Amino acid sequence: MHLADPRLRDARFDGARTAGLDPLGADGPLAAVPAMNAGADVRALTAALRRLTPSLPEVAAFDFCECLAAMRDLGLLLGSIKRHGVQPLPEVPGLETVLVELGRRTEMIPRDTVHHYTEWNPLGPRQRMYTGDPQETVLMGGPRASIPELGQALERCAALADTDVADPAFAPLLQELGDHLAAFETVIADVVARVSPEFFAQQMRPYYEEVAVAGRDWLGPAAAHVPLYLADLALWASDDNDPAYEAFLEESAEHTLPAWRGLVRQWRDRPSIVRRLREAAEPDPAPWGAHLTALHRVMRSLVVFRGRHLGIARKAYKEEVRLYELGSGGGSIGLLQSILDLTRENAVTAKALAPAPAGRTA
Ligand code: HEM
Repeated sequence: MHLADPRLRDARFDGARTAGLDPLGADGPLAAVPAMNAGADVRALTAALRRLTPSLPEVAAFDFCECLAAMRDLGLLLGSIKRHGVQPLPEVPGLETVLVELGRRTEMIPRDTVHHYTEWNPLGPRQRMYTGDPQETVLMGGPRASIPELGQALERCAALADTDVADPAFAPLLQELGDHLAAFETVIADVVARVSPEFFAQQMRPYYEEVAVAGRDWLGPAAAHVPLYLADLALWASDDNDPAYEAFLEESAEHTLPAWRGLVRQWRDRPSIVRRLREAAEPDPAPWGAHLTALHRVMRSLVVFRGRHLGIARKAYKEEVRLYELGSGGGSIGLLQSILDLTRENAVTAKALAPAPAGRTA
């Protein structure tokens, strides 16, 4: 089945091309950022930001991906300066209008996001980093590896919404959705194995603090903004009205791609996949074995990701380790626990409906 869904894929966002671009001539200056940050050298960071900020006519000459790359590079300096306690915009004349314009041109917020900092950030010697620590590269690897898989997963979610549960294409689509979401399990295992909670809490977390632009505070490029909630909405969350999760989701959605942002409204009021299959299988689950097994596997991947993720998040936000009470996406450990609980409840529903594997008595 050809799945390229024009509602979800926006060819203007060419990550590989953006990663290769250096529209501000920032490769050299940004390589020095880790040393400036290590020395808390706000003066050098601010001077670099002043030098790199383009004029509005320069921005007008950028193409779409150059606008994304320019935002990525200005963003590294915004987060760095704020990390040392200084709001960057008052220090750099003309920067605010440039950020607003770059946001407008790309239909994104007026600062960098997790997409800029990871997917559109080159690997190797040109990689833009706050700290230069190899653990930072591992952390960036989480969104880098999971966002493209999530994109594939969301295309399957869209196709599933348009496919009758009795259609022979339904169960294979659900299996493919599971294959793509399983990437989250691997990604978090890698981070847990190679990033210490102390490094995240004390070295990285401060760079994701909010920066004031155009009268609002905008959170930094945190993994918490990877829009996994869109898969939740399609799978189970459109049936639930958890106010804390909804508020988190609304805020996070601002930080993602315009085509994905639009899905929140579309998917919020549709019956979820869990509900559709529960209703289909209630009278007699027997004909729905393949569907229910696939659904159980998808839900289990989400539970495994969230269980491992909560484990490391708890360690990073322990009172004696943390510098901040709230996460970089503005949420709390309590929020993560409640999202995990809701995901688990739905995984339990899927498991109860799924046929017992061979060798297991029902
Ligand atoms: C040491 C590493 C990490 C820590 C301490 C951590 C911590 C947190 C915390 C505290 C939250 C709650 C919301 C908020 O931040 O405001 C959160 C949310 C989230 N984080 Fe992480 N995180 C880490 C790594 C990752 C990685 C590698 C990913 C991979 C994609 C990720 C994906 C998410 C997602 C998708 C959410 C939204 C809630 C959800 O969907 O369950 N995080 N994280």
